[in-house]
Amino acid sequence: MVTEYSKLTPEIAKRVAALTFPTYRSSLSPLEQNLFGCTALIKDQPCALILWRKQNNLAEILSIFVQIEYRQLGIGTKLINMALEAATKLKCQFAKIIWTTRLSKTVALEALLATTNWEVPVTRVKFFESTTTRINEAPWLWRFPDPALPYQLKTWDHLSSAQLNLLLSNSSNAPETLAPNFRMEHVDHTTSSALLFNEEVVGWMIVHDFPEMSNRLVYSRSWCVPDHRNMGRGAALLLHSVRNHIRRRSDRLWGIFDVPMDKKEMLVFFEKRFKKFAERTYESRQSIFLLN
Ligand SMILES: CC(C)(COP(=O)(O)OP(=O)(O)OC[C@H]1O[C@@H](n2cnc3c(N)ncnc32)[C@H](O)[C@@H]1OP(=O)(O)O)[C@@H](O)C(=O)NCCC(=O)NCCS
Repeated sequence: MVTEYSKLTPEIAKRVAALTFPTYRSSLSPLEQNLFGCTALIKDQPCALILWRKQNNLAEILSIFVQIEYRQLGIGTKLINMALEAATKLKCQFAKIIWTTRLSKTVALEALLATTNWEVPVTRVKFFESTTTRINEAPWLWRFPDPALPYQLKTWDHLSSAQLNLLLSNSSNAPETLAPNFRMEHVDHTTSSALLFNEEVVGWMIVHDFPEMSNRLVYSRSWCVPDHRNMGRGAALLLHSVRNHIRRRSDRLWGIFDVPMDKKEMLVFFEKRFKKFAERTYESRQSIFLLN
């Protein structure tokens, strides 16, 4: 049925925007350097696309999509194999793909990866989604103790400008993935929290109000300076934000919490306490393919 498979040329790239996520569409025309892909065409009409980006020796698969009426015909397999072959020729040493298990389509993707011999998927992050109504039913939410003085918890709009500046300049040397200065213009100051020790900022919970995520706040990054870290304080920081979400942002019904797998204690807290009050849980997974 497929009449042709083709590498993504600048001309074809202009015609395949509908076959990938909105985020990548602007990179197709003009075709961004280091962005590669392959399409399947039926009578000159693109019906499937794999898109990948070369970053040094890594080929990251950004999306793979086959139009619904052409699925389970081997097209996905062919596109993956073409991408891996092209990445090998460009001297990539491994390929990576990241996806979430939020939608039922995951089954097809994981079957495709198994059939094309990718490594067994590993979980990177667990997501818990809940509503303010549901989480408010948790008996521990309002009872969980705040850290004792000289510790204090404050929302960002109650910090002094000196404290806020210190927090934003990331003087605590947090890893880049947890640093507070991320998409700053969308940080919600009424729910983002800071942990203070003798008035000095030693931790934070950042809550984002992204315009593309209507009706929900994203609990995106939390961090505590190692000397001030213990599970009670991390959970108290989080719950301080949740309580303020309920009190002050009733216009945003949903909250999304992401917990990386290496944050073991936080993960236990979520699995033991939060999960019962989550409306939805899902994972971000990753798989690797070693190239020659
Ligand atoms: C995932 C996707 C690209 C697979 O494409 P495809 O052309 O249907 O895949 P193939 O026909 O090559 O199938 C590959 C293998 O997966 C299996 N498979 C495909 N869809 C399946 C499904 N829904 N359930 C179970 N197995 C499935 C096939 O049987 C085949 O296995 P086999 O080799 O053992 O027979 C396609 O389903 C799709 O576009 N899904 C929506 C987009 C998406 O989820 N993309 C991933 C995130 S970017």
